[in-house]
Amino acid sequence: MRPFLDSSASAKEWPLPAKDLTDLDLFTRGFPHALFTELRRYEGPLFHPATALTPGGEGFWVVSRYRDMVPIARDHVAFSSESGGDREGGGTMIEDLPRAVGVGSVINMMDDPRHRALLRLVAPGLTHAKIAALEPVLAEAARVAVADVLTRGHGDLVKDIAAELPLLAIASLLGIPAQDRHQIFAWINAVLDYADRQLGETSQSSAQAMQQFMAYGQCFVESRRQAPGEDVVSLAVTGELRDGLGRLSPVEQLMVFNVVMVAGLETTRNAIAGGVLAFIECPEQWTRLREERTLINPALEEILRWTSPTPYNRRTATRDVEIGGRLIRRGEKVTLWWASANRDEGFFERPFDFDVGRSINPHLAFGSGGHGCLGAQLARLEMRVVLNALLDHVAGFDLAGDVEWVRSNKHTGIRRMPVRYTPAPSHPIQRNTAAGVSEGSFSSLGST
Ligand code: HEM
Repeated sequence: MRPFLDSSASAKEWPLPAKDLTDLDLFTRGFPHALFTELRRYEGPLFHPATALTPGGEGFWVVSRYRDMVPIARDHVAFSSESGGDREGGGTMIEDLPRAVGVGSVINMMDDPRHRALLRLVAPGLTHAKIAALEPVLAEAARVAVADVLTRGHGDLVKDIAAELPLLAIASLLGIPAQDRHQIFAWINAVLDYADRQLGETSQSSAQAMQQFMAYGQCFVESRRQAPGEDVVSLAVTGELRDGLGRLSPVEQLMVFNVVMVAGLETTRNAIAGGVLAFIECPEQWTRLREERTLINPALEEILRWTSPTPYNRRTATRDVEIGGRLIRRGEKVTLWWASANRDEGFFERPFDFDVGRSINPHLAFGSGGHGCLGAQLARLEMRVVLNALLDHVAGFDLAGDVEWVRSNKHTGIRRMPVRYTPAPSHPIQRNTAAGVSEGSFSSLGST
């Protein structure tokens, strides 16, 4: 029995000493669900001690259960996204980020009232109408991408489909020149890639990519200053925060560009790729969805719950506070593992069943509370158009090789996924093949 309100060493004991959540090798085959299932057996937050791999040599609390997580995510006073205690830096990752790289100036690592005022300033750039207006462009792009892969019959789903749609959506939303989008994506990949480094470390390639990405962002922000539009960056550059909080500093303006690009691209790509992988592993759910297209919205929510592309975010306690019978001290780091909450058997029925018909699904893939995802509706739209394009023409999928996961505990991502497609009987490629027309003749479909 664990002692209550006791912050002694025994109460803080980590129950799985051989498992280190800062060892990125734990995350090379997707999110370690078995490990978190084990952690959820213990009541209350658990204290993860510092290991040789833990940045800053400092342990952190791990919250794995749904019901412990939501009150923390909603309490922005006791649990800061910015900092707490006597620490200099802070932020929402296990490692403390310095203030120079965004803590206190990027929306997701900023506390109220400035956070709330910034949210209100940029929200008109992501209204329902603005997002809905993207639908025809995205739907056409998805149709072309699916037609193209069906022509070939196989390919890397991440490159062919999952990466392309989010890029197009964000580029269209911000007005980024189409020819720049792949370069930006390459920089972001390098910044988020931990293949050649440990947590909290920078490699030469990640530092270089960050520098180039920031330089591009600065030029983009400047272009919006010269000729503002109605996008989030223009609003950040030209607008003023309410309640006399003034205008955004140049760093805050740049960070609006950065966060939309970084938060919007990788996550949605991973939701799309992870969703297709779920259908490959549960083909009966694909057949069911093709037969019952009205399940498309519950299916999207189930993909989000299942894939949880952002596995965790961190907060810092601003005062001593009790959660689930544990005493969390002022200044301590607290990590909220959304991906674990989304499989919590104490909250969800049959959490390990991927079920497109799940009717009650208040998952935490987009977080919870005032920092909940600003791009959730955009992400849902992107996922829906891809899913619809696939449902229209694909009867099923198989893996044509190994899935390559991103080595990261901050993004549950798929870097490469070779897939073989079975076209639907109604699809032109099937009809043409049946009529004796070669598959190659289908290749022009993508360009019409
Ligand atoms: C499936 C795709 C996505 C997932 C899983 C996801 C996940 C999340 C999560 C978990 C948070 C909460 C962070 C925290 O509490 O510390 C968040 C916040 C945020 N997301 Fe997303 N996101 C997605 C797509 C997007 C897109 C497309 C955009 C860009 C338009 C975006 C922009 C943001 C921003 C700006 C925040 C910070 C909001 C705030 O602090 O008030 N996200 N997202």
